[in-house]
Amino acid sequence: MSLTIDFSNKTVVVIGGTSGINRGVAMLFARHGARVAVASRSSDKVEDTVNALEALGGQAMGFTADVRDFVAIEEGLAKVYEAFGLFDVLVSGAAGNFPANVNGMSVNAFRSVVEIDLVGTFNVMKASFSYLKRPGASVINISAPQAFLPMEAQSHVCSAKAGVDMITRTLALEWGREGIRINSIVPGPIDGTEGVARLAPSGAVRQRVIDSIPLGRMGSPEDIAHACLFLGSDLSGYISGVILPVDGAWSQNGCGDMSSYLGNLARQKEKN
Ligand code: HXC
Ligand code: NAP
Repeated sequence: MSLTIDFSNKTVVVIGGTSGINRGVAMLFARHGARVAVASRSSDKVEDTVNALEALGGQAMGFTADVRDFVAIEEGLAKVYEAFGLFDVLVSGAAGNFPANVNGMSVNAFRSVVEIDLVGTFNVMKASFSYLKRPGASVINISAPQAFLPMEAQSHVCSAKAGVDMITRTLALEWGREGIRINSIVPGPIDGTEGVARLAPSGAVRQRVIDSIPLGRMGSPEDIAHACLFLGSDLSGYISGVILPVDGAWSQNGCGDMSSYLGNLARQKEKN
């Protein structure tokens, strides 16, 4: 059997698609022929990503919006619909993270991450609904191992990403009736990204993380993009409501000693 994944004449929207993992996802869909739209807060990052997508030869566009601002997201998505038509694939991956224990973070710090990751995902889902192709659209939320593994210094992310996965599962019920599939992808530690820079910045920690990954390496944005390509295509036409770790089995290992490492780091910071 030979497989071809072709997104020609399809519209793919990647919210938070202007750096790291999500930009890698946007680029891979573009390489497979899709019209791609990206969005994030920084106009420079949006412009740079649209240029990179266009350099691949296809159509691309972008808009700036904060996922915490429902109206801004709604207006941006309406522009994408006007230019590119109904959405075949929607990827929602905007997120924020910093290591801090509950005793070392303000109410606003906790709220910021919950509002970006969880309320932002709700906003993106809700604002997109009328533009999703039905039947046939595929929605992918980018989650994290913190959604199902408690981790010190990550109460905000754990709470928010657990909620993201529950939105995924709930909408698989509600939107399944309309022929829309919705799944979460849970990346492991992805090399060269902001997430790893924030949680495993030094050489020594980095090596400890790598040693704790059963497959023996960090992932790449392409590893996540390949899973998105599969979940976005008809090859996964009967898969919905799934939380899919793409992590070299890292989460099966409890993510090594990431939890105690981050907890100790945050306690040290609180003392200083
Ligand atoms: C304690 C902190 C803090 C820190 C910020 N805050 N950093 N508290 N420790 N290190 C507090 C601030 O003091 C403030 O509270 C509140 O958080 C909001 O901060 P702002 O800077 O005003 O917010 P904002 O500009 O909205 O920025 C949101 C952000 C920021 C999350 C704080 O870091 C951001 O924009 N991040 C986006 C990029 C990112 O994080 N990428 C990594 C995703 S990786 P007060 O009370 O002072 O007002 C990921 C999973 C990785 O999600 C998993 C790896 C395995
Ligand atoms: P990243 O490079 O920081 O990407 C985050 C993206 O979201 C950027 O495009 C950013 O652009 C945008 N964004 C952030 N806050 C936003 C907001 N309030 N409104 C709109 N856009 C916003 O992070 P990453 O490390 O690649 O992570 C990407 C995703 O993978 C996240 O969902 C993260 O939780 C998940 N993840 C990452 C890892 C990892 O190893 N990196 C592991 C597990 C899960 P602007 O700054 O322009 O807004």
